[in-house]
Amino acid sequence: MPIDLSQDRIIKLTDQEFKDLVGFVYSHYGIDLSKKRQLIEGRLSHTLRGKGFSTFSEYMRILFQDKSGEELHGFLNKITTNHSYFARENEHFEFLMKVALPQLEKTRRGDLRIWSAGCSAGQEAYNIAMVMDQYFGPRKPQWDTTILATDISTNVLTKARQGIYSMDSIKGLPDAWKTKYFNRLPDGNFQVCEKIRKEVVFRIFNLMDPFVYKKPFDIIFCRNVMIYFDAPTTNKTVEKFYDATAMGGYLFIGHSESVDKANSKYTYLMPAIYQKQPNKGGR
Ligand SMILES: C[S@@+](CC[C@H](N)C(=O)[O-])C[C@H]1O[C@@H](n2cnc3c(N)ncnc32)[C@H](O)[C@@H]1O
Repeated sequence: MPIDLSQDRIIKLTDQEFKDLVGFVYSHYGIDLSKKRQLIEGRLSHTLRGKGFSTFSEYMRILFQDKSGEELHGFLNKITTNHSYFARENEHFEFLMKVALPQLEKTRRGDLRIWSAGCSAGQEAYNIAMVMDQYFGPRKPQWDTTILATDISTNVLTKARQGIYSMDSIKGLPDAWKTKYFNRLPDGNFQVCEKIRKEVVFRIFNLMDPFVYKKPFDIIFCRNVMIYFDAPTTNKTVEKFYDATAMGGYLFIGHSESVDKANSKYTYLMPAIYQKQPNKGGR
């Protein structure tokens, strides 16, 4: 039987469509897709075809006027890059355990405010929860260390709430942690145990929106997210993080990302780790 290859055909963007779509994504989500023409065509052609569209203009007309949010969520699920895994850039978790938490424990009373911003499917947030459990041990019941974990992709947030991962995703963790913090499922995957899952609250949140919070954060992880932003957007986002950080609190970014050290109010501690200290214009 002949195979219908039309399903796989890529729908091409015209120059104007590309410009409009890139502008839309940049202004709403800060993501710079100006060098990602093929990625957009590749990731969205199937979606367009499924909706009966043969051009991007038809799709964009619906997308740009979407009031329900449904079309937008589907679009964001397609264009975001969500790769993540446990023990990623593990030096950060070691720093947390050996330096940040001992310092914070001395100066905080009973609660720590923690945010995993751009959390993808939850690996980073659950990893932080495991570090909290390890660090506080029997003192943990005296500490509220609930982690807020946010992303713009609804697909990854659904996966995050389930907390189910492949062996490959958790392979960087110590064996003792795999046994202690995961339940092996019949299909060979691993689910984060309930005790750790209860420590993380997942919410949809766009980092381009104003940050609204009751108390500033002691620990912010925003790793491998700003890599998709341009320099002005990164600087603005870092400034918003700074305002949302409690004095003595920490910002962790990805190793391939950078904070403008000359202009940022954060104090640089070591690669990809910053602290809000009083002597650098802190409030
Ligand atoms: C590569 S993942 C990083 C996951 C994790 N932080 C890590 O380092 O493994 C980047 C995540 O940032 C999210 N993201 C991109 N732009 C965002 C925005 N404007 N607001 C919130 N999340 C965003 C994406 O949806 C994606 O899940």
